[in-house]
Amino acid sequence: MDFLVVPEIEAYAEAHSMPESAVCRELRDETYRTMEWPQMVVGPLEGAFLKMTAQMVQAKRVLEIGMFTGYSALCFAEVVPDDGRVITCEVDHESAALARHYFARSPHGNKIEVRMGPALETLAGLSGPFDLIFIDADKINYLNYYERALDLIAPTGVILLDNALRDGDVLKHPAPEPSTEAIQSLNRRIAADTRVTAVLVTVRDGVMLVKPKGDEG
Ligand SMILES: C[S@@+](CC[C@H](N)C(=O)[O-])C[C@H]1O[C@@H](n2cnc3c(N)ncnc32)[C@H](O)[C@@H]1O
Repeated sequence: MDFLVVPEIEAYAEAHSMPESAVCRELRDETYRTMEWPQMVVGPLEGAFLKMTAQMVQAKRVLEIGMFTGYSALCFAEVVPDDGRVITCEVDHESAALARHYFARSPHGNKIEVRMGPALETLAGLSGPFDLIFIDADKINYLNYYERALDLIAPTGVILLDNALRDGDVLKHPAPEPSTEAIQSLNRRIAADTRVTAVLVTVRDGVMLVKPKGDEG
């Protein structure tokens, strides 16, 4: 993945943000050594951003769609309270095995519940409310995940959608691939969605933050 900001600025921002935990660091290192697409891990800067967001909404129940080797799930688990819960969805058993290995090594791993299987099926069986929902799985289903997330999110909660800028490809018309077209279409839809307020922040590959509109309109 190309970074959208120059590497020196990315490194500076990372150096001046909360550091990743030792377990997250080891998990990230092993993911880069052993997995085919390690860059799917959100990494330290976006990980810090996710943790800060969870802390700001005082998240106790977190739902993640797209666990991979568990980096972002562990970030959330590190900031939810002891009786908090992180439910995370994944289809790939090899990634999940690595994730489980590191969850077992973390003092926060027992807060994480892994749900294997296609996320849409898992989501159909879940009840809300969740304080934070992080969408980071197959882009083609983002619209379906977003609509279900709106059912499950607490009125005071926040939904985050990763890869909202697709390496900058959101600027290309026509879109180079169907997954980018799906993101372009969803970004437009969210920006016009009267049920929510949203901000697309340029952290890493772009994160769309969505908050349900309360009584404030
Ligand atoms: C970008 S990675 C997630 C990265 C993770 N959030 C992190 O920071 O380490 C996306 C993951 O979604 C999983 N995935 C793809 N389609 C899925 C589906 N339909 N249901 C559940 N998981 C899915 C993939 O196997 C992959 O591990």
